[in-house]
Amino acid sequence: MSVITNINDLKRQHKRRTPKMFYDYCESGSWTEQTFRENTSDFDQIRFRQRVAVDMEGRSTATKMIGQDVAMPVALAPVGLTGMQCADGEIKAAKAAEKFGVPFTLSTMSVCSIEEVAKNTTKPFWFQLYVMRDQEFLENIIQRAKDAKCSALVLTLDLQILGQRHKDLKNGLSVPIRPSIGNVLDLATKWRWGLGMLGTKNKSFGNIVGHARGVSNMGSLFTWTAEQFDPRLDWDKIARIKEMWGGPLILKGIMEPEDALKAVGVGADAIIVSNHGGRQLDGALSSIRMLPAIMEAVGDQIEVHLDSGIRSGQDVLKAISMGAKGTYIGRAFIHGLGANGEQGVTQALEVIHKEMDTTMALCGRKHIETMDRDTILVPKNFAGDWA
Ligand SMILES: Cc1cc2nc3c(=O)[nH]c(=O)nc-3n(C[C@H](O)[C@H](O)[C@H](O)COP(=O)(O)O)c2cc1C
Repeated sequence: MSVITNINDLKRQHKRRTPKMFYDYCESGSWTEQTFRENTSDFDQIRFRQRVAVDMEGRSTATKMIGQDVAMPVALAPVGLTGMQCADGEIKAAKAAEKFGVPFTLSTMSVCSIEEVAKNTTKPFWFQLYVMRDQEFLENIIQRAKDAKCSALVLTLDLQILGQRHKDLKNGLSVPIRPSIGNVLDLATKWRWGLGMLGTKNKSFGNIVGHARGVSNMGSLFTWTAEQFDPRLDWDKIARIKEMWGGPLILKGIMEPEDALKAVGVGADAIIVSNHGGRQLDGALSSIRMLPAIMEAVGDQIEVHLDSGIRSGQDVLKAISMGAKGTYIGRAFIHGLGANGEQGVTQALEVIHKEMDTTMALCGRKHIETMDRDTILVPKNFAGDWA
């Protein structure tokens, strides 16, 4: 096997080993993909300050996110259809995260169900909720997450309506799935993926089939899913969900100081500055560019996390140095999973950890919590001069 030195190596293997329609599903953004691209390229504008002759023995990336111990402030983001990148993908990623000591977040739209992941892990994971119109389903899934002892609810706010990704429509990865002939032929060449899929019963949306009223097979699942994302979600409903859940609540998809203040108002434990990895509102600024304004508005009132565009440990450190208390990786861990299953996710986490550790040392800092604004250089006009 080739030597893995960075996330891009895993991305190349992911592309080779996974059916095109699922690789494309991961590696795409909405419409022109401007936000998707800038999420990563904007990190490049930030630089580190090199420091020397500082004792760098005994370094640590360990800290806390929402009061929970983490080996490094990097959680696995909720990613729908993870179990299509490789068989039982959610279970494999959750196991890798557990062994590494970072949080795993299970998507509502996962292939393996909450119960399946709970059965195959020993520590609590986080559950991401999409608010659905079906009230009975909503109450049940929150209860199921409680029963599975999930230790945080990540409520996603930026998907009341679906952004359009051209590649998914062209590949036939729509609701219902209608793979193009090219994609059917491509599936036949991904034998390792196919063998894995033959060996698992987890092949559809495990949190939904058999749990939503009237959804017992693929046909009814597609109709139900297409109609369910609740366009009426508002701050009152968020407050009601917080009450129903009763545990730590993280609000995902905050991109404006005003919304961050509202998140503080409903009593959330943390927010994630996120544009859904550039998959929803194309033309939005990157999340790293929005971070300073949001930190200024609410940084002392709520824990601020960030995702979208993180591809290295250096990106993580840039976000932390700007004030974020935690970060999430989406595609970076999916590349590992598609490349190499559970081991690939571990490789992705190891790569990121090593990049963090070395960079901290060369910045003259021993503990992640001491990475602050003084360790980085940010262009004066980084946030941009917008009216
Ligand atoms: C393939 C894919 C599927 C996703 N599915 C979900 C999802 O089900 N729920 C959710 O809240 N976010 C979802 N996201 C967004 C991620 O949680 C996260 O915000 C994003 O991946 C961060 O950007 P990054 O991939 O550049 O790290 C998805 C992202 C990708 C790439």
